[in-house]
Amino acid sequence: MGIAYLNGEYLPLEQARISPLDRGFLFADGIYEVIPAYGSVLFRLDEHFERLERSLSEIQLTNPHTRDEWRELFDTLISKNGGGNISVYLQVTRGAPDKRDHAYPTAPQSPTIFAMTSPIAAPAADAPDTAEGLSVITMEDFRWSRCDIKSIALLPNVMMRQHAVQQGCAEAILIRDGFATEGSATNFFIVKDGVVLTPPKSCFILPGITRDLIVELCRDNGVAIEERNVSEAELNHADEIWLSSSTKEVVPVVKIDGKPVSNGKPGPVWKSVARLYVDYKRNLCGES
Ligand SMILES: Cc1ncc(COP(=O)(O)O)c(C=O)c1O
Repeated sequence: MGIAYLNGEYLPLEQARISPLDRGFLFADGIYEVIPAYGSVLFRLDEHFERLERSLSEIQLTNPHTRDEWRELFDTLISKNGGGNISVYLQVTRGAPDKRDHAYPTAPQSPTIFAMTSPIAAPAADAPDTAEGLSVITMEDFRWSRCDIKSIALLPNVMMRQHAVQQGCAEAILIRDGFATEGSATNFFIVKDGVVLTPPKSCFILPGITRDLIVELCRDNGVAIEERNVSEAELNHADEIWLSSSTKEVVPVVKIDGKPVSNGKPGPVWKSVARLYVDYKRNLCGES
């Protein structure tokens, strides 16, 4: 099960214990991050720090560590778990005061800091010519309107992903007021007539670190890209659809609501962007 970090201690994950009064447990009052490392090198760490700092500040939780302290904690955890291609899950909650009350505790309260690692499965982008692609469904986005905070309150996302899984699909792409927002745990892109489109950042999507990198890679390499809202009709008639996340990187969707996307195979624009992504990763983290 590996070694976890909990409130200053490294210990076997199965021995980690938190109080039932923890506000993460009672109210989902906390935030999280998932940071990939390739060959033990943390990827886009500054961007993850920026998002972590923003999530903490949006819920008025004091950042318990400096960037250097976080970096040391993550590096130690990665090394204790054997290194390699591995992701770090970090969760910070508002701790466990001695009584349950919706309002934030007024007395000083230590946060609960928990981190663990998971191996990263070989992503589709590593082998663009043999990638098969995913099937997705669409469904109503019934989440709240602060999806920009990386909150641990994930029940809607859990329900949406489960709905997809029960229909034999890997992900649900969510529709709010006729426009696609994102996946249950991914951002999305479409390609139409050679132009890549992805929704702009707003309170209805998580500002994905991978999303931003893909936008950057497209811009830097002459791939036409626009950040604008994508209607449900545009999604359904896209030439290509991709999903992105830190652990999935960028993956093609080949079927949506049971219908093939174009010819039902990963598209050419995805293949070029997947290659750009892998090159970028190798430049930063070395061969892995
Ligand atoms: C709702 C949601 N959107 C998008 C993403 C992708 O974000 P990132 O690329 O930072 O992993 C995630 C990742 O967990 C997510 O949960």
